[in-house]
Amino acid sequence: MGKRRRLKNIFFSILVLVAFLVLYLNPYKTFPKLMWREPGYYYVAYPRNYTFIMDQTPTCRTTTPFLILMVPIAPNDQATRDIIRKTWGSEKIVLDQLVETVFVMGLPVGNDIEQQLKKLKLENDQHHDLIQSNFLDSYHNLTIKTMVMLEWLAQYCTKASFVLKIDSDTLLHVHNLVMLLLDPSTAKKNYSTGLVWWHSSVLRDTSSKYYMPSYVFPEPKYPPYPLGMAYVMSLDLPRKILDVSPQIKPIYIEDVYLGMCLKQLGIPPTDPPEHTMFLIKPLHPLNRCSLSKVIAMTTDSTLQMHSYWKTIRQGLHYCH
Ligand SMILES: *[C@@H]1O[C@H](CO)[C@@H](O)[C@H](O)[C@H]1NC(C)=O
Ligand SMILES: *[C@@H]1O[C@H](CO)[C@@H](O)[C@H](O)[C@H]1NC(C)=O
Ligand SMILES: *[C@@H]1O[C@H](CO)[C@@H](O)[C@H](O)[C@H]1NC(C)=O
Repeated sequence: MGKRRRLKNIFFSILVLVAFLVLYLNPYKTFPKLMWREPGYYYVAYPRNYTFIMDQTPTCRTTTPFLILMVPIAPNDQATRDIIRKTWGSEKIVLDQLVETVFVMGLPVGNDIEQQLKKLKLENDQHHDLIQSNFLDSYHNLTIKTMVMLEWLAQYCTKASFVLKIDSDTLLHVHNLVMLLLDPSTAKKNYSTGLVWWHSSVLRDTSSKYYMPSYVFPEPKYPPYPLGMAYVMSLDLPRKILDVSPQIKPIYIEDVYLGMCLKQLGIPPTDPPEHTMFLIKPLHPLNRCSLSKVIAMTTDSTLQMHSYWKTIRQGLHYCH
């Protein structure tokens, strides 16, 4: 009897120890609190009735661009906007087609919000190229930014032909893009392209920037999607995507969410005709010849972007 009780005690001690280990060495606990701040952190607040608090650009109102370049950007990043305005954003007529650039942002964060809003208004008075909506501009709200951008396009730009969503640190070869879009083999409807991730695994490592818990997205792979750095769409797609989006619970990874909507629509993205057109983090700096085949490419800095763009502007280069 005594032996049995002792065994029982040992058994319970082990049980308590195991429970203790499970509770306290839980891998999730060892990661930043930020990730577990609130339930549903990996969802975003969309669809919601966000409204535009700054939206006086003439683009698509008094003009009908062939191509709109939309740049999601942080409200306080005027320096990068100015570089873009001086580089690829300055190319307005390309192969006889009208190209216009607008910047999309949410509400500023910080303790000088009033001042930031005032500065933005001044900047917009000068350039007329800012679109601002009333969601909080943060990394986890990028999907909202994209959806608000689509709302704006569906509302004002249905007569335009194509939109390129492009990140502010990305180099754009406008001429090559317009050439691709004018090509008779490029679809004019149901069209999206970019650097398409066809078989992207869902990252379950909690330390990853793109961590996604399985209770939010249970499948092991995401549907195909063009990478967020730069993707093109024909302008029938924004409305179609918005129409299916209420059926798809929004996650915070904006390009993946777009892929989920495209899958629901049964309109998969298209690979670009050449793999040299959309590049992410190239291992070596690109020479003139490689640059002449690029459409969009991530850069390390706005300085590098400026220098690449100048090289592109120097003209055509023949490659062997
Ligand atoms: C959005 O606005 C519509 C119509 O004004 C309203 O019916 C709906 O409840 C609103 N949704 C949210 C989430 O506020
Ligand atoms: C996203 O925007 C909404 C609306 O402005 C805000 O309530 C929410 O806190 C924002 N989320 C993050 C992570 O900033
Ligand atoms: C676009 O795709 C949808 C869904 O597959 C299809 O019903 C529609 O006919 C397509 N439209 C065009 C113009 O190709």
